[in-house]
Amino acid sequence: MINLKVNIDKVSDFISEKEINTFQNEIQTHFQSIINKTGKGNDFLGWVDLPNEISDDLLNKIEADAAKIKKLAKLFVVIGIGGSYLGARAVIEALSHNFNSLLPEKEFPQVLFAGQNIGEDYLADLLDVLDKNDYALAVISKSGTTTEPAIAFRLLKNHLEKKYGKNGASERIIAITDKEKGALKQLSDKENYSTYIVPDDVGGRYSVLTPVGLLPVAVAGFNIRKLINGAKEMREFIFSDLTSLNNPVALYAATRNVLYRKGMTTEIMVNYQPALFYLTEWWKQLFGESEGKENKGIFPAGVSFTSDLHSMGQYIQEGLRNIFETVLSVENQKRTLKIPKVDEDMDKLNYLAGRRINEVNKNAELGTALAHVDGGVPNIKITIDKVDEENLGQLVYFYEMACAVSGYILDVNPFDQPGVEAYKKNMFALLGKQGFEKETKEILLKMKNNE
Ligand code: PA5
Repeated sequence: MINLKVNIDKVSDFISEKEINTFQNEIQTHFQSIINKTGKGNDFLGWVDLPNEISDDLLNKIEADAAKIKKLAKLFVVIGIGGSYLGARAVIEALSHNFNSLLPEKEFPQVLFAGQNIGEDYLADLLDVLDKNDYALAVISKSGTTTEPAIAFRLLKNHLEKKYGKNGASERIIAITDKEKGALKQLSDKENYSTYIVPDDVGGRYSVLTPVGLLPVAVAGFNIRKLINGAKEMREFIFSDLTSLNNPVALYAATRNVLYRKGMTTEIMVNYQPALFYLTEWWKQLFGESEGKENKGIFPAGVSFTSDLHSMGQYIQEGLRNIFETVLSVENQKRTLKIPKVDEDMDKLNYLAGRRINEVNKNAELGTALAHVDGGVPNIKITIDKVDEENLGQLVYFYEMACAVSGYILDVNPFDQPGVEAYKKNMFALLGKQGFEKETKEILLKMKNNE
């Protein structure tokens, strides 16, 4: 059942229904180009049918590997960056106990992440922890050549081999990469690692429903079949009405693009649950890498309320008026906690006694939305019922489709990321990588001229 709703009541002070409706025909065309694979980047549309096409054999293999890791390891390190990292982290953190690492009895391995930065202290600290715990790892890189995960993998492979011997290490390494290209594929073949393939036609940031996201999520103890099922339900729901703005994808894509054309060039994704922090990070990557090109695109930002109401709240209320908010609102909590009554009402909170914390949070959410609208910030609301595998599967598919449609409205290719190469080229030139001799000369000269 689909509970996800998009509510645009709080944009009506800024844009009209008529303006939103002007996108109706265009969005219909974009849906068709996505389904018929005729638009820009059409060789990267594998994610569209993924929820229906994923085989039982693949899910069985992932679950079997997860069960094996559960026996072997207390910690599971997921090495990857960007789309080979954020989806898994988003789902795991959303579903996990907020203090999972401190719970004394953990049934499933705790998932840690590496290769998403080049912090020397981060990696050295990680090795301290891995010295003292049994662990296994997944190295995830579609290209198999990305520097950050390659560095982390080299360190951890070395560490594993010292700790468990070469064969023991191979048993604890799973590689998720291209079916034939890249250094990681060659190494995996040589060392006999258990491997999974990232489908050719699925780009990194659209790969959460492939082994890239599914294996870490399964190792963390969550139900990947329900996640896939949620995505499948959302796919059917979206496909059941590709012509009207009752379709939540169409409504969200149209509304954010009308706002963008009116000068609101930053979209702030808001959550009210700390566990959703990485879901916002994943959304930022999905939309930022997909839309931000050719000097166009809505800048995706994120805040966690109410924490950030005491930092970014000031800017949102009264700063430059080029922003709109999209609140990811969660109807129901998994736990129940009420505010206690105390005899001496020193903190003057007895008016809240007996009421649920979530009621306070919900009123903070409503009060904030009203205040921000009064301050000139339009507010889109996306509501889900609760944070579980099924709802997250629905949400992932919803955002992926909304991102693809929005990219087409902007007339960019939402499935490439050419701009990511610029920093890599400079870094390789500065580090003296073989093959970058010309770039090294150029960058040194440029820096000298700038002195
Ligand atoms: O979405 C993308 O394609 C990127 O963010 C990639 O996932 C990221 O750059 C990592 O690439 P790879 O998986 O090839 O190591």
